[in-house]
Amino acid sequence: MPYPKGDKRVSDSITEITKLIQYRDINGGNRLFGGRLMEWIDEAAGVAAMRHCGGDAVTLMVDSLKFKHGAFINDIVVLIAKVTYVGRTSMEVRVDTYVEDKGSGIRRAINHAYLTCVHVDENGRPKPIEYGIIPEGITEQAEYEGARKRIAIRKQRTAEGF
Ligand SMILES: CC(C)(COP(=O)(O)OP(=O)(O)OC[C@H]1O[C@@H](n2cnc3c(N)ncnc32)[C@H](O)[C@@H]1OP(=O)(O)O)[C@@H](O)C(=O)NCCC(=O)NCCS
Repeated sequence: MPYPKGDKRVSDSITEITKLIQYRDINGGNRLFGGRLMEWIDEAAGVAAMRHCGGDAVTLMVDSLKFKHGAFINDIVVLIAKVTYVGRTSMEVRVDTYVEDKGSGIRRAINHAYLTCVHVDENGRPKPIEYGIIPEGITEQAEYEGARKRIAIRKQRTAEGF
């Protein structure tokens, strides 16, 4: 059923992508190539943003990416993206990446990243987002409040030439 114009929940944008690491994904050190993971993160974030804004979205920026643990051939990698904050034309998207243990199913976090995505019109120009966001529960509310601080930091960093 199409959404009425109004607000959407964080859960409406949740996007899960599962990958099996293959030889084409690893680097010379036999680990998951960081650039490949960045591609998957960007893809997951883009889909989450599009699900929220209901149209096209492009990536404006990616915050620092910290690789906490490596991943290796034949590992199951799970990426979960969700919109955490909505501005006038932009959205903050958080992407968590895990390696899933095949025996227990337990997921170990290997990376998390925040991306800023912008809703765009057919000419690629920023377009107002018609849906607000409803953060539910303390985790989503904390992400929402944290986003205000992160946005101010991003703008400050841009102003300082980072
Ligand atoms: C993304 C793009 C459309 C933005 O265009 P722009 O004219 O610079 O946009 P604006 O200055 O109007 O800013 C758009 C939004 O980004 C936000 N933004 C801009 N710079 C920012 C920064 N440094 N930190 C945080 N937010 C920022 C603005 O606040 C605004 O959000 P809001 O409307 O919710 O407040 C344009 O930069 C672009 O096309 N970039 C290339 C995108 C691309 O090709 N990505 C890779 C493939 S997907």
